[in-house]
Amino acid sequence: MSVTVRVPAKVNVQLAVGGARADGFHDLANVFLAVGLYDEVTVTPADRLRITCSGPDAHQVPLDHSNLAARAALALAGRSGRSADVHIHIAKDIPVAGGMAGGSADGAGALLACDELWGLGTPRDELLAICAELGSDVPFSLIGGAALGTGRGEQLTPLEVGGTFHWVFALADGGLSTPAVYGEFDRLWEGREVPVPEASPELTEALRLGDATALAETVGNDLQPAALSLFPSLRQTLTAGGEGGALAALVSGSGPTTAFLAKDAESAESVAEALLASDTCRSVRVALAPAPGATVVAPAV
Ligand code: C5P
Repeated sequence: MSVTVRVPAKVNVQLAVGGARADGFHDLANVFLAVGLYDEVTVTPADRLRITCSGPDAHQVPLDHSNLAARAALALAGRSGRSADVHIHIAKDIPVAGGMAGGSADGAGALLACDELWGLGTPRDELLAICAELGSDVPFSLIGGAALGTGRGEQLTPLEVGGTFHWVFALADGGLSTPAVYGEFDRLWEGREVPVPEASPELTEALRLGDATALAETVGNDLQPAALSLFPSLRQTLTAGGEGGALAALVSGSGPTTAFLAKDAESAESVAEALLASDTCRSVRVALAPAPGATVVAPAV
């Protein structure tokens, strides 16, 4: 008896970052778009909580209780007064420490899978509240599609998307720590007033229309200078994708994955080829957006 949940990666098409708050977090206007790269989280009853992981980056995934999937199982078990004795297996396809919310995806996936396995039927808003406690990006992994995240990114307003967007992702050699990138953001802004983050109406309109050219003109990531400062070689990757015909090139979230918006499927293939030929990245993935949020694919039997 087991339950499998499929959860998408995300790219931030707009990541407007405000100044550091008293709690250390930053207020955001964060436009999330779920993309069709997925982790699959399977939970099975076991005699104790344990995690295993498979996939090319599996060796980089922590298998202790710091993993968001374990924390999700423990949080849900704690609320319902039961033990979290499950084996969580993560089939990992989302780049690790890449700025694509792979860890958050596993948290949302494990939460939904345990809820189903244990037959709890926890209301959606309660699941979202648990997600928000686990991390700023976890609620979005649950809902997928596209959404504006405010607060520290956890307060979501779903956004309409009127078409399919073609993306290419270049995976970097190595990862970037999200707190380190925010720390570098603070350092780069030291002594200056950081503007209040605001969602771009042009960007949400471009999403609504499914217009890739208009979206390309409005994408932006305030963390990009900080990510480039810590990982300067990403500039070459961004240039290579731009020269390969991408409509827009940006760092995904806190990086170091870089994201390239293409006009159509054919152009996405050309961008992917140019990136591979440039030798400025570890590997390249093509994916469509929007993608659905966490979804049960193999219910308990
Ligand atoms: O919420 P999450 O655990 O994913 O955040 C990881 C780290 O990223 C935080 O500890 C903080 O350093 C930084 N962060 C931030 N402002 C946000 C989201 C994350 O400073 N809105």
